[in-house]
Amino acid sequence: MCGIIGFAKSGNAPLRCSDVLVEGLRKLEYRGYDSVGVAVVSKNGGFVIIKDVGSVDRVVKAPEFEVLDGSVAIGHTRWATHGKPSKENAHPHTDCSKRVAVVHNGIIENYLELKNVVLGEGHVFMSETDTEVVAHLIEHFKKLGAKPFEAFKKAVAMLRGSYALAVVDLDEPDRIFFARSVSPLVIGLGNNINFVSSDITAFVKYTNRVVVLQDGEVGYVSSSEVYVEFNGRPVDVSSRIRLVELDAQSIEKGGFPHYMTKEIFEQPYALAQTFSALQTQNISDVLRVLEEARKIYIVGAGTSYHASLLGAIAFKRFLGLDAEALISSEFRVISRAVKWGDVVIGVSQSGETIDTLLALREARERGAKTVALVNNQFSTIARESDYVISMRAGPEIAVAATKTFTTQVLSLLYIVARLAEFTGAIDVDYKALIQGLKMSHEVAQRVLEACTEVCKAIATRLAEKQSAYYLGRVFGVPIAMEGALKLKEIAYIHAEAYPAGESKHGPIALVEEGFPVVFIYLGFLDEMLESNVEEMKARGAYVIAVAQGDTVLGSIAKYSNAVVKMPKAPLEVRLITYVIPLQLIAYYTSVIKGLDPDKPRNLAKTVTVI
Ligand code: G6P
Repeated sequence: MCGIIGFAKSGNAPLRCSDVLVEGLRKLEYRGYDSVGVAVVSKNGGFVIIKDVGSVDRVVKAPEFEVLDGSVAIGHTRWATHGKPSKENAHPHTDCSKRVAVVHNGIIENYLELKNVVLGEGHVFMSETDTEVVAHLIEHFKKLGAKPFEAFKKAVAMLRGSYALAVVDLDEPDRIFFARSVSPLVIGLGNNINFVSSDITAFVKYTNRVVVLQDGEVGYVSSSEVYVEFNGRPVDVSSRIRLVELDAQSIEKGGFPHYMTKEIFEQPYALAQTFSALQTQNISDVLRVLEEARKIYIVGAGTSYHASLLGAIAFKRFLGLDAEALISSEFRVISRAVKWGDVVIGVSQSGETIDTLLALREARERGAKTVALVNNQFSTIARESDYVISMRAGPEIAVAATKTFTTQVLSLLYIVARLAEFTGAIDVDYKALIQGLKMSHEVAQRVLEACTEVCKAIATRLAEKQSAYYLGRVFGVPIAMEGALKLKEIAYIHAEAYPAGESKHGPIALVEEGFPVVFIYLGFLDEMLESNVEEMKARGAYVIAVAQGDTVLGSIAKYSNAVVKMPKAPLEVRLITYVIPLQLIAYYTSVIKGLDPDKPRNLAKTVTVI
């Protein structure tokens, strides 16, 4: 998983080369941040290549970066797949003659085979990456007489796997060649400047006119031209130009120390946005297929899987429907069970997670209808699904998902409520449900106001610990899982979630004096937690309770060392908002430990490798 950016500008464009690169690379850092690199076509007709391991901020501090001058440039942020993070393995990669520079996101599956072909002709490789072979293949075809763009296309035709490529060839130095297969790639059309990038956010400061490329398309941009072809035929993309709503302001930190805090604290706004976005979309086709569904599968990865779990419980509990949540990467194992008449909902913030994309492709092949629930409406998953529900929660930059979990849960519950209305389910008060969802943003605001201080205090305790449990019942389990995931991801504390009733079947063996156990008192079957909290307390656990402030359960007051008092709210609202203190606890624990919550080690925001 990596991010790529390239631009070609004319002399009239007032923008500074280094500014455009730094802006783009910073916005792409969420896609990978173990190394950074750029290649700029210099005035003397050669490349200036700067690359190194480390963050964008570190690499762009190099004095030669500031003085970069040129009209055509490509850049890359890396999340290592082939070859460790090192200067050699950082992109861009070049051919032997150093006239072709390549940046790549994805995995070239047949790179060893291709490498052997060019090695046999005496090419010398400088890196361990799968990417470098592309530069040598282009060089190879040029030696055989092909013009640069033809050589590029011939090289691309040999690749298997996933790729978004941006390539500059000094023999045609005004253009950036590009190709897309699976990995996302968008073109930005500006005034006297055009871009290619993995993500719109990298260039939205300069233009909001975009064309989302499709699998199999290749082409080039110059400062004045965009050329795209598919299967050897030119494609007129003018009808595909869209104006995106993202503004640069909304993807800055807005005064918060981290993107993660900004995104946690803007959840009230995101929930309100998503609710109104849902109301403006006509989802009657989705409701119809869900009504007729033999079985509903909900697939997702990471945080999106946890939202899927909550959604599946809601489909069962509120509507009595056969619904099952599955981890995207496991879906193929059971896909034989998926049949015509089933509906598979893919939940994905980015809409680009490869495991979820492949699960949905498999589902379609097996005759199921697919519904994408995404935050990025221009994504591959959105494009390939039969139906799309767009959350419009705004860009999420921090690697650890926060506002997209709450807005995913809101969206799934909204579907449940609308389905109850659509099918005339008599035992569900859908009007009250929708009303509850509509006010969820107000409750989220109250949670943030009332709970932040106690979460900071709890974080001070947790920061000293090696391990923690998160326990809940039924709906509380996915919320516990999400809380545990956050603590693991950004505070590097081992955390596990369990259905509370299971805690006595193994997990309790680890509990000793001071062991932190977070109980999710959701106000739904809370009495079932009573004995579990007693069992934990008897072994010396440090009990943290998340519970409605007015709850009367004796065990909360009696056994808890710390209580996060949640505002009173209907169940559907609690399902959305109970995760917020868990996000805050993880965030503050990370900060207290001196870590960077926005950039957890080994992780990436959007995982485009299997
Ligand atoms: C990565 C991110 C998680 C995210 C998951 C699924 O693992 O680090 O925060 O939940 O991918 O991403 P998606 O974009 O499909 O929701």
